[in-house]
Amino acid sequence: MEPIPINAPEYVKNLKLLQWVKETVELCQPDSVCWCDGSEEEYDRLCAGMVESGTFIKLSEEKRPNSFLCRSDPSDVARVEDRTFICSIRRQDAGPTNNWVAPKEMKATLNKLLAGCMKGRTMYVIPFSMGPLGSHIAHIGVEITDSPYVVTNMRIMTRMGRQVLELLDEEAEFVPCLHSVGAPLEPGQADVPWPCNDTKYIVHFPEERSIVSYGSGYGGNALLGKKCFALRIASSMARDEGWLAEHMLILGVESPEGEKDYVGAAFPSACGKTNFAMMIPPVEMEGWKITTVGDDIAWIKQGKDGRLHAINPEHGFFGVAPGTSVKSNPNAMASLYANCIFTNVALTPDGDVWWEDMTDTPPEYLIDWQGKPWVPGCDRPAAHPNARFTAPASQCPVIDSEWENPDGVPISAFIFGGRRGDTIPLVYQSANWYYGVYMAATMGSEKTAAAAGKVGDVRRDPFAMLPFCGYHMGDYFNHWLHVGRTLSDPPRIFGVNWFRKDENGKFLWPGFGDNMRVLKWIMGRVHGRSGAVESPLGWMPRYESLDWGGLDGFTREKFLKLMSVDREAWKQELFSHEELLEKLFDRLPKEFTHIRELMLSTLWSSPEHWELAPERYTAEH
Ligand code: OXD
Ligand code: MN
Repeated sequence: MEPIPINAPEYVKNLKLLQWVKETVELCQPDSVCWCDGSEEEYDRLCAGMVESGTFIKLSEEKRPNSFLCRSDPSDVARVEDRTFICSIRRQDAGPTNNWVAPKEMKATLNKLLAGCMKGRTMYVIPFSMGPLGSHIAHIGVEITDSPYVVTNMRIMTRMGRQVLELLDEEAEFVPCLHSVGAPLEPGQADVPWPCNDTKYIVHFPEERSIVSYGSGYGGNALLGKKCFALRIASSMARDEGWLAEHMLILGVESPEGEKDYVGAAFPSACGKTNFAMMIPPVEMEGWKITTVGDDIAWIKQGKDGRLHAINPEHGFFGVAPGTSVKSNPNAMASLYANCIFTNVALTPDGDVWWEDMTDTPPEYLIDWQGKPWVPGCDRPAAHPNARFTAPASQCPVIDSEWENPDGVPISAFIFGGRRGDTIPLVYQSANWYYGVYMAATMGSEKTAAAAGKVGDVRRDPFAMLPFCGYHMGDYFNHWLHVGRTLSDPPRIFGVNWFRKDENGKFLWPGFGDNMRVLKWIMGRVHGRSGAVESPLGWMPRYESLDWGGLDGFTREKFLKLMSVDREAWKQELFSHEELLEKLFDRLPKEFTHIRELMLSTLWSSPEHWELAPERYTAEH
């Protein structure tokens, strides 16, 4: 049978794109090809089609205008890290923390799976820009997919459509991203609401700068601009070209005096990045303002002024819904007022959405994320723990005025933090860039539901990039050290832990808006205002150095517990770094060995001091 014509619109000029679409049509054999123009009309048409086919449920126009609920297949609910591959030409370039298969072998496997995989379906061509159109920090990608769910999500999450293709002249570079749910339809075969395949491959070819994803329709597996392009492929582009692609939120912080700074912060998946990026300072800290540039990914380049400048390559939020509430994140809730796609949340009888902790008291009756009746106490979660909202970033009430600035925003500090019930204090400042890179490289976190696997175990998650680095993690650390060497005044680096618990398993720190107290101290450090004492980990605040206004009852004793550096626990912590570092030994920065030794000897040489409270540490500076 003759392959169907590709029907490219007249404004498509790029030769590589035309050729790639033609080859993909021949390989995947869709019924038709649709070039997405990104218009509202196209979005509405696709949403209406999915309502008709049962993939989308239209939510109440009164409660949640222009919004939809989608339920995935129960087997396709999170990123699949064990099915994610970095297929560099040489195995050692992917490094021991990535799955690797030789590109030739992987292509043979994929080509078998892809042959005819779009039969009975429409193939969509989605041109998108990661970052403001035409920005020198932005890059262009084109995703081919057989999933209309992906098209509608990509329209929210990226700058998508005709204007991108118009920018892509004959020879311009773009990252080809091929996606299929892997569920061809025989003539007459009825479709299911969430087509997918038990066989899954999420594959990156870093030298070619291309992506192929097969078998999953969910999140980072399928919206290829996000983790696959903006982190895995971009991190490898950034290494080659001297910039940074990071799993970081970007926020603006303005003091009552009008001093404005920007901060990049990396936390592993589902550790509250969106909450931190949109936090509302306590009322007692009048005059402090937080604004959001991005909640998940930062692309960072040195600007003409010699400072690092960051853009948010995304255009929307793909946030974890459970736990998001008017209490925990009022700005996120406000961003969800309309024009959203909700995946795997529960449906209320009046056509709205609900998820765990959205309200203190759950509704009396719901339809759960699997479409089953649900009542409080029925022993099943109403929403899947990794249920998501897709929302336009422009709807965030505190979106930063510079969030679309093509030159990005200048970064004053980097913050790194994991979810740790013990050992790691609330906040500390690394002694210098090298110590900061070591700290970020060895950060650990308890596992969450964002990826398949057992929740709760601590795993090392360097820079929160373990599942997202497109090359050898040892080279990645060297790249960070190198970037620091090129800066005359590099951003200060801080470690934080909002999740430390007391002996009864209760969180010691209130978190959320109160994290502003920590951020205020950090900004004070950046500008040489906040006092600090020396500790084995770097600089730490005294009790007096934090603003406690309005947080009645947060005693000095509690603070000291939260800040304590337990010598034994830290020795174990440093020993446990070995497990990761030893894996990367052939490309590990030599600095790391020395820093670890120095930290160990600092702990050992001051046997009494360091396990005591910061009050007893050496002089304040
Ligand atoms: C995400 C993740 O979806 O990190 O942002 O898993
Ligand atoms: Mn993320």
